[in-house]
Amino acid sequence: MSTLKPLHIGMTLAPTWLNGAGWRRPDSQVEGIFSAAFHVDIARRAEAAKLDFVFRPDTLFLNTPALEQGSAFAALDPTVLLTAVAQETTRIGLLSTMSTTFYPPYVVARQIQSLNWLSNGRAGWNIVTALEGHANFGLASMPSADERYAQAAEFTDVVRALWGSYPRSALLTDRATGRHGDPARVHPIDHEGRFFQVKGPLNLPAFSDAPIPLVQAGASPAGRAFAASVADAVFISAPDREAALEVRSDLRRRAEAAGRKAGDIRILPGLSLYLAPSRAEAQALFAETHAGADIARKLAIICEMTGLDLSDWPDDRPISATDLPPPPERVRSRTHSDLLRRAILRETPTRADLFLRPEVAGSGHWQIIGTVEDALAEIRAWAEAGAIDGFIATPGGSVDCMHLVLDDLVPRLTEAGLFRKDYTGTTFFEHLQG
Ligand SMILES: Cc1cc2nc3c(=O)[nH]c(=O)nc-3n(C[C@H](O)[C@H](O)[C@H](O)COP(=O)(O)O)c2cc1C
Repeated sequence: MSTLKPLHIGMTLAPTWLNGAGWRRPDSQVEGIFSAAFHVDIARRAEAAKLDFVFRPDTLFLNTPALEQGSAFAALDPTVLLTAVAQETTRIGLLSTMSTTFYPPYVVARQIQSLNWLSNGRAGWNIVTALEGHANFGLASMPSADERYAQAAEFTDVVRALWGSYPRSALLTDRATGRHGDPARVHPIDHEGRFFQVKGPLNLPAFSDAPIPLVQAGASPAGRAFAASVADAVFISAPDREAALEVRSDLRRRAEAAGRKAGDIRILPGLSLYLAPSRAEAQALFAETHAGADIARKLAIICEMTGLDLSDWPDDRPISATDLPPPPERVRSRTHSDLLRRAILRETPTRADLFLRPEVAGSGHWQIIGTVEDALAEIRAWAEAGAIDGFIATPGGSVDCMHLVLDDLVPRLTEAGLFRKDYTGTTFFEHLQG
């Protein structure tokens, strides 16, 4: 039995197990990806396993050329989808993604608070500054990362002020006195800032006084400063334990410097799991999923992130520090570009190695390919090393693998004392305590 604090575990509702060749399997259920039933099934399994939350990432553009090989970011709106999931579940947290670069804060405050009402306090907001999509919102180009984070900070202040502007206590619904509400307890926010002017109050009362959990993703210095000031949890890309340890200790330190407690910020790396009954089957699952991968797309990713053009490079020649040009000044995600440079500097990989690295093949996430036992041992080791407070599961390869994660791995973590046996609270905020 472990004496560690129980982990916090989230499950992606983006069907990562359909990536690569996964969707082509006869049992992939890919036809269901725009239906509620597809997602409700996963959310119910995640709730039976007592997970903290299900989570839906989001983008606001279609990657049309990628449609040839996958969904290309075509997806249901996450908050609308989670509202449907809310009706079919009772305890699990529902984490929606909304961008601070493109939406107005009043709309985000209202939609997330609406999800909170419709789920009895289970809503959370994943705050992203987004990577692309400016042309869909009348912007000539993507604002720089610093500009996006400055806007995100003001945006988040406005949303929180709006949530406080009409407190639950102002809703009286007192039939005897005939008082429906108390206007004296509702107040405008009169926000006049660099990016936003919002009078308020919000036209929806808060569901309760419990805070709505805020999650952030993006680990550049600007991203970390922002996360340290507001986030209850941070979704990170950490392909190895040292990377997670570094981000976790830095974010805990930064949270304290911002006047919060180190434990107020929980570090949750994405965890890509290729699980099967034997290691050989798991390796085969990984290989099958990535066979026929779009080499041109991978070359473009590497070039965008590092400035290194490997198009004419032999597959077996090691890439070393001297081959790397200086870091590009502007990249879509500094987090992902730094992780890829770091992998090249540490491992002098060949081009063929690089194509299979998580930094190129899987958003830079922690990756476990093996049995449920292997996953249990590695998660325990990362937890014991103080590298994580939990993780967000992004299973790969097949529906069976996704089922193994929820129906087998998580109960094993519970047996090992690393995860809760049952929910003790009813709201997402309560799940994150303890
Ligand atoms: C693990 C992770 C997950 C992310 N998920 C999303 C997402 O779902 N939607 C989105 O628009 N941006 C997403 N982003 C992008 C960030 O919001 C941010 O715009 C980007 O990483 C640039 O910030 P950085 O320089 O701090 O990395 C994600 C970033 C990371 C690191």
